[in-house]
Amino acid sequence: LTDVSALLLSRIRDVADYPEPGVMFKDITPLLADPSAFTALTDALAGIAERTGATKVVGLEARGFILGAPVAVRAGLGFIPVRKAGKLPGATLSQAYDLEYGSAEIEVHAEDLAGGDRVLIVDDVLATGGTAEASIQLIRRAGAEVAGLAVLMELGFLGGRTRLEPALGDAPLQALLTV
Ligand code: PRP
Ligand code: MG
Repeated sequence: LTDVSALLLSRIRDVADYPEPGVMFKDITPLLADPSAFTALTDALAGIAERTGATKVVGLEARGFILGAPVAVRAGLGFIPVRKAGKLPGATLSQAYDLEYGSAEIEVHAEDLAGGDRVLIVDDVLATGGTAEASIQLIRRAGAEVAGLAVLMELGFLGGRTRLEPALGDAPLQALLTV
């Protein structure tokens, strides 16, 4: 574990049986409240944006907004929100995906992405990979290229990385922590 990884890990709180029995919730609010940890996280993700040659940062509502927006500012790139359906006022592209029970839908403003854009997707957690997979499809459908997917934390036991392999192709999946 690097010093940065150890610092980040120390600021993530495990909450047992939330939001339902048997689930260990990873609470990032202590990390967000610690300016040195939040800065280290932002710098690490901004470094990934630079190394992947990203030209835009996409954040996934809601926790991906908190992480992705300062990364975009730090890297000098535009920030594009991928929102849960029904929240964006302009012309959108939308992508439905399956949840354990039911389904969900995410959207992006069509005008925010175009051919020639290289997008780094930022989120807090990679779990099953469903949210990330839908966002990759959305970005491609908008005509842009996926430069990579960067997350604070990968829940390795849920197999999200394997699920995303076909969708990501050569684009890297970078997790600062694997738990
Ligand atoms: C959580 C988390 C990731 C996603 C990961 O978001 O922030 O975005 O689930 O799960 P997956 O890999 O199985 O798709 P969620 O929509 O629960 O809540 P949020 O609005 O607080 O980000
Ligand atoms: Mg989320």
